[in-house]
Amino acid sequence: MKRSVIDTVDLSVEEVQRLLDTAMDIIAQPEKYAHACAGKKLATLFFEPSTRTRMSFEAAMYELGGNVISMTDAGTSSAAKGETVADTAKVVSNYVDIIAQRHPKAGAALVAAANASIPVINAGDGGHCHPTQTFADLLTIYREHSNMNGLTIGFCGDLLYGRTVHSLMAAMARYEGTRFVLISPEELKVPRHLIKDVVEPAGIPCEEVTSLEEALPKLDVLYMTRIQKERFDDPAQYERLKNVYVLDAEKMKLAKPDCIVMHPLPRVDEIAVEVDDDPRARYFEQTLNGKYMRMALILKLLGWDGQSLTGAKEPAETYPGGPFSLWTIAEEDPAYKCGNPKCICAAERSIRHKYYIAKDGSRRCVYCEQ
Ligand code: CP
Repeated sequence: MKRSVIDTVDLSVEEVQRLLDTAMDIIAQPEKYAHACAGKKLATLFFEPSTRTRMSFEAAMYELGGNVISMTDAGTSSAAKGETVADTAKVVSNYVDIIAQRHPKAGAALVAAANASIPVINAGDGGHCHPTQTFADLLTIYREHSNMNGLTIGFCGDLLYGRTVHSLMAAMARYEGTRFVLISPEELKVPRHLIKDVVEPAGIPCEEVTSLEEALPKLDVLYMTRIQKERFDDPAQYERLKNVYVLDAEKMKLAKPDCIVMHPLPRVDEIAVEVDDDPRARYFEQTLNGKYMRMALILKLLGWDGQSLTGAKEPAETYPGGPFSLWTIAEEDPAYKCGNPKCICAAERSIRHKYYIAKDGSRRCVYCEQ
């Protein structure tokens, strides 16, 4: 088991800063990195659709001089015959040096990491986490503000299923003076475990509101999100909520002159196309920043020492912050069963359910954290 990244908080703040520094250096002198991963291979295992995450991972590896093999559609892989995530990770470990995996079930990345013999990067696991999107987001904020402290961030839209929101909240909670304004309908509020585990322990001022218009004037960053149609059990509920927030040029008049607008993309209707011309729009820059941060993360996990790959991949012992490190303290009890139908535990019967004791004393599934 090698060091993997399931969520942003599997890296310390100092390690994240080093990723930001590496990304900025890649931007400044790309030729220095053009052969850094020569002879290395990345596998992109995408059990769920993607445009920018998969393609930016692949572009990242090519720009580092490495190669890529790709599974773009679970339906044409042996997953369609019933092969588990664990077995797939063991097999693919024989072919490549590092894996980036996306899967529709929460916790699937942790299952892969626990079974692979090479580093695994979570490229999105259901509604759980999406750390490399967060790294893209952090670089976007860093390039704008150069100081991550003291920012008021408004998250707007589907805060229940929006995994990019969950990962960015966990990441920003570690910077001083962060404030959150959580803008959503009642049905799509942030999962309570995030409030208990992330917001309350950090003492972050946090408002939960329904009005985008009222929140906008307070914000340094507005993080818009898509209503995640694919995660709704009830199509009628999706239809009712899908256009609950639409950011347009009129609403942008309420935002501060230096409030940047971010969105992980893809967008549907939640940001009107006219906002693209607003100088505060940053969502297309985010997609490019994602490539630089994925380059920096691949380098880190393959043992980059600033000049070359040492080949010394990091051991599994990690900064004790995120889901990957929780794995090392997880406990088993035959009576314990994760009850979350969107967890990988519910999808694959061979998985041994494990839990950890959360800060509030409750048992949480180590895979989906619910
Ligand atoms: N932001 C993001 O994850 O986009 P894709 O689904 O296109 O990868």
